[in-house]
Amino acid sequence: MERPFSIDPDIRKASTLPAWVYFDPAVFERAKERVFARTWQLAADADSAKLPGQAHPFTLLDGCLSEPLLLTRDRSDRLHCLSNVCTHRGNLVVEHPGVETVLRCRYHGRRFQLDGRFQSMPEFEETQGFPSEADHLPRVRFETWGKLIFASLSPAHELDALVGAMRDRCGFLPIADGTLDPARSREYLVGANWALYCDNYLEGFHIPFVHASLSEALDYGAYRTELYGLSNLQVGIARGAEDAFDLPAGHPDRGQRIAAYYWWLFPNTMLNFYPWGISVNVVRPLAPDRTKVSFLSYVWDPSRLDRGAGAGLDRVEREDEAVVEGVQRGVRSRLYLRGRYSPTREQGVHHFHCLLAEWLNEG
Ligand code: FES
Ligand SMILES: [Fe+2]
Repeated sequence: MERPFSIDPDIRKASTLPAWVYFDPAVFERAKERVFARTWQLAADADSAKLPGQAHPFTLLDGCLSEPLLLTRDRSDRLHCLSNVCTHRGNLVVEHPGVETVLRCRYHGRRFQLDGRFQSMPEFEETQGFPSEADHLPRVRFETWGKLIFASLSPAHELDALVGAMRDRCGFLPIADGTLDPARSREYLVGANWALYCDNYLEGFHIPFVHASLSEALDYGAYRTELYGLSNLQVGIARGAEDAFDLPAGHPDRGQRIAAYYWWLFPNTMLNFYPWGISVNVVRPLAPDRTKVSFLSYVWDPSRLDRGAGAGLDRVEREDEAVVEGVQRGVRSRLYLRGRYSPTREQGVHHFHCLLAEWLNEG
């Protein structure tokens, strides 16, 4: 990288990311290939390809990787994640979700089986060495966790390295029963760099300053952060009689009144667990100073909605947005380069910065 940077692994000695990381177009482009193409991205949920024959086109990390992919369930009930780009001249094979017996490119009629294998093509009798392996739709690695399907174009690690700690801690919840509630799901366009959005998510330090309502639901003194390899967890303890999880016997947090588990998965996925279900946030970089954030709510206990830390998510989001957009203007200053960390309140931010420095600088 042209301007390498490092983060001291000792948070007490470290300085934060240099300001230019948040606006330099070269860093932004580098992150696409070094970080986003090599990590696991939320692709779809299992409900989008439930039936044999179903084909569900989608774009992986739209606006950033913008990779046209296809989720299919073949007639033998096996799930596949494929490139949605025709191996002839590159048209998109499937334009709309539907149930199919065969995938047919409408440009020149090339056909593929639901598992992506080339089936037939008119006018190619004289083409030599055809068809070959290169004529099948490329397969993309994918893994399912609960209902969520993650895909990676060239994974640098297994999905388990990302979700293992979360599964151990939150696997007791009825995750597979959660259903997407479109009325509680929405997208926010934020005028800031994707990493600033993550920085802000990764600390509860700002809660008493920025989120008056959330502050009433959480016990700030007991708020804590735990770091794992590629993920980290912020544990929100309920204040007073606010809603908390019913933890099973043997759970490591049993006896504590946990209002929320906020899991961050490197680099841009957040899973917020509440007694009612999960709010999934996907952070999509669009430009060095523009980010789209999708909020998807999967509800398993509607009777517990709108209570405690999991209430008023839209208000909290707007409060976060305003502060993050202020920071984006601030990091452009000629008078600011980098800051320092609070060792007791910003462990998650430091963890993210260390990972980002490592992934951006290698190679
Ligand atoms: S691009 Fe698909 S058949 Fe030609
Ligand atoms: Fe916040």
